Amino acid sequence: MKRFSALFLMSVCGAVLMLAQAPRNEATAFPPLPTMRKAGQTVQMIVDGKPYLMLAGELHNSSASSPAYMRPIWEKLAALHLNTVIGTASWELVEPVEGRFDFSAVDSEIAEARKHGMRLVLIWFGTWKNASSSYVPMWVKQDPGRFPLARTKSGKPGFMGLSMDVLSPLGEAAITADAKAFRALMRHIREVDPRHTVIMMQVENEAGLLGDSRDRSALAEAAWAKPVPSELMNYLVQRKATLLPEVSRVWGAQDFKTSGTWTEVFGTDAFADEIFMAWFVGRAVGRVAEAGKAELAIPMYANAWLGPQPEQDLPGQYPSGGPVTGMLDIWRAAAPRLDLFAPDIYVADFEGVCEGYVRSGNPLFIPEARADLPNLFWAIGHHGALGYSPFGIEDLHDFKALGAAYETLAGLAPLLLKLQAEGKVMSVMEGNAASVTAFEEATGLGVRFGGLWSVFAPPAPKNDRQKDMAPAPAPDVEFSTRPEKDTRGFAVAIETAPHEFVIVGSGLLLTSARAHIGTIDEGRYENGRWQPGRRINGDESFSGNFVALGQEFPEIRRVVTYTEP
Ligand code: DGJ
Repeated sequence: MKRFSALFLMSVCGAVLMLAQAPRNEATAFPPLPTMRKAGQTVQMIVDGKPYLMLAGELHNSSASSPAYMRPIWEKLAALHLNTVIGTASWELVEPVEGRFDFSAVDSEIAEARKHGMRLVLIWFGTWKNASSSYVPMWVKQDPGRFPLARTKSGKPGFMGLSMDVLSPLGEAAITADAKAFRALMRHIREVDPRHTVIMMQVENEAGLLGDSRDRSALAEAAWAKPVPSELMNYLVQRKATLLPEVSRVWGAQDFKTSGTWTEVFGTDAFADEIFMAWFVGRAVGRVAEAGKAELAIPMYANAWLGPQPEQDLPGQYPSGGPVTGMLDIWRAAAPRLDLFAPDIYVADFEGVCEGYVRSGNPLFIPEARADLPNLFWAIGHHGALGYSPFGIEDLHDFKALGAAYETLAGLAPLLLKLQAEGKVMSVMEGNAASVTAFEEATGLGVRFGGLWSVFAPPAPKNDRQKDMAPAPAPDVEFSTRPEKDTRGFAVAIETAPHEFVIVGSGLLLTSARAHIGTIDEGRYENGRWQPGRRINGDESFSGNFVALGQEFPEIRRVVTYTEP
């Protein structure tokens, strides 16, 4: 009895000791840094050591500057099943007085995101916000002697009749001050966020110059007359055979000269100017990123206002020198610490933009777009995008559809990411004929668009890309919250075993073709685990003839096929 009591006492003491140690152990066992990793045929975002799909939304520019304004919004975002919010940190609020920092708005974002089970990507609104410098502190705005401004042929940079004071990317003092502030921010995040609520940073926003193809300030003119820097020249010479055609064309027109002034190496047109700007803007953003990474080396990217695009054919009509798809080579040379370059997609040809951005191995992430479900599923299913993020998420028009899509994708993500790395994921989208052919080839099933009853009144085929979509809106000045719904059918299929597919989609029917439909199950995934619903081989599929994927919201089916012996 005595011995029993002693043992009992020892084990109670042990348990108490363990409990006492638990918080300390937990506190020291912080998760690893978020990172990006090559996984088979894709690159994945890794958070807490596991592949992570960013089901995101970007806040309007000013929302996160006020914790009070944001308070009711967090619940709304959580109800949308967002796992990631793209929030903001602006230089003017972070460093209102030179050398004096205030991180309160950022701290509130971190605390609220954590409380609501979400991660953050933060946009650093430093020198550039939509090719303007509207978020730089007053002490920068008021000192153009120390922080020189960019000039255009007509004076100030501008857009749509507006003119703006914009810092020159060649102004050393501004870039140094921007980098210093960003470094302070990243140091602070390292200190207050050991669990890595903040998983990635967007460095600046849609950088570049509007109103001219090249900065004409005295600093810029002096640089233009000098030789092309040897770092850029060497980079291009070493990769001459694999450069993207946009840079190759401009350089090739000057016989691929390997030294000389900017005009000697690249010529005198607007695209030569764009290369000059991309080098200096890229270098500036790269220096800011490098300073931040010295404190906290999480993934960082730069985003682009797209160009050339409809009605913005020339650099300067879109921000000259931004990380547009044709300038990726220059940006890679200028900003090696950036992990990827991301398109803000408001143009109609979503698929074309994605194709442009995945060239030469750039991982796809879409920080701004409309909440169009076909595009969301296309980016993730066809390109293995790291994430997708409708802009102005707090004012989204159709909360239900995106919420349902994100809920479905969140459950499916572990399986999707695992099999994507093995090349077992494919996508189809209405209006993209090549995707229909490839999908039919890979699954052995036929693809028709529309609901189950459309079989008896088939819709007109939509086979040209974007044929039935609205014309391109005025680019980049529209918000993502427009009410029209994108009703194209789409699906993503995951091949889980030979002849077995998990298919998620909407507005489409699969039919027996080379392979026959054997069984159809409805259900959903929770944390990657299948939760079966009904076996629907009856009227719901016209006796196993069609796999019908929902009209309203994306639905999941497990389909087993067979071929005749
Ligand atoms: C793109 C910008 O990056 C955002 O900050 C915002 O201004 C949107 N355009 C508005 O459509």
